[in-house]
Amino acid sequence: MTNDVLENARSHFEGLVKEQLERVEKMKEAEDWVDYSSLKPIIIGVCWGDGIGPIISQETQRILEFVLEDEVKSGKVVFRTIEGLTIENRAEHRAAIPEDVLEELKACHVILKAPTTTPEKGDEWPNIESANVAMRRYLDLFANVRPVKVPKEGIDWIFFRENTEGAYVLGSKGILVTEDLAFDFKVITKQGAERIMRMAFEYSKNNNINKLTVVTKANVVKTTDGLFLDTAARVGKEYPDVEWEGWYIDIMTAKLVDPKRRTQFRVLVLPNLYGDILTDEAAEFQGGVGTAGSANIGKRYAMFEAIHGSAPRMMREGRGKYADPSSLIRAAAMMIRHIGFAERAEKLEMALDICGQYEKRISITGRADGCTAAELGEYLMETMKDPELKNRWTAAVE
Ligand code: IPM
Ligand code: MG
Repeated sequence: MTNDVLENARSHFEGLVKEQLERVEKMKEAEDWVDYSSLKPIIIGVCWGDGIGPIISQETQRILEFVLEDEVKSGKVVFRTIEGLTIENRAEHRAAIPEDVLEELKACHVILKAPTTTPEKGDEWPNIESANVAMRRYLDLFANVRPVKVPKEGIDWIFFRENTEGAYVLGSKGILVTEDLAFDFKVITKQGAERIMRMAFEYSKNNNINKLTVVTKANVVKTTDGLFLDTAARVGKEYPDVEWEGWYIDIMTAKLVDPKRRTQFRVLVLPNLYGDILTDEAAEFQGGVGTAGSANIGKRYAMFEAIHGSAPRMMREGRGKYADPSSLIRAAAMMIRHIGFAERAEKLEMALDICGQYEKRISITGRADGCTAAELGEYLMETMKDPELKNRWTAAVE
């Protein structure tokens, strides 16, 4: 009995190690970054997702078509709807992302993804993996970039969350050794830590921010977080103008709510799970996860999404049309910037700030006492058309 148990555990672990060593080898084959300016068309795949997903995606796509009107007309940009990323289809195929859907995704350059349902223990769905976690891994979207800004309070953060390893990469591959003993695994690789670290340092350097905060729990989780921290030290040597310091996740979580300290943080880089948690906390200052966008960036593909879920409760209660599309629209703004239209991304972001944080001529509450997603969409488009947009934004923020 004991021998079988040990043999089982040993071969399970061996399988995981082999798989991860192969991933490391793939990372070593350095790929070049896509040059969007040379692409025609740039194909934007839109996944409508579950729950409130179709409602907020429809609004977001409408705004994107408005913002990129000329490019759509000239054929520089095309939209492609990807139907199959729904919980029903995924459950039927018992796959986080069914094979044919993955092929469709790979035929796009960038993807706008609405929330998808992640099954949890005890619900009606088979135990398939989260679609976004799978997509990040299949398309090697190693950087999860999440900005949070509250100009009035001096908050201007950008989080670089490592997106393809840490506690997530083997999150569905833990082992119940016996009914008494459960193991999960956390993985950090030198290559994986280096590419996210480099991106954070590059961002700091290119934006003249001389301070980078590296968040771990390396005092306790010594091997993996230790490697992450060592990588910061190694890569940091190449960026003498960017000072970096290490923080532990527990005290970091506390200092984010300290009004005297929190404005000093600007660029933060962190392993997957800490990044997941800290970015939800951070988004709360800006008005909640409904207001934050998220970019999942790799060298070949990039996917942009809301940071919240599919809100099944809202749908059950018949409140879907009041769902806030701002988070997905913010993600769409990041997408436009990523594919080379920075000025228009800025305009859209200004409109989002004005309509959602400052002027708030109508406001969205998720309930019938607030406006609908479509009404907010109209308000945003009308605001973007205003030739005084920039002045209006500056006046609002000051
Ligand atoms: C996020 C989400 C996902 C994550 C969930 C839905 C699996 O919380 O994008 O932050 O944990 O990464
Ligand atoms: Mg999260």
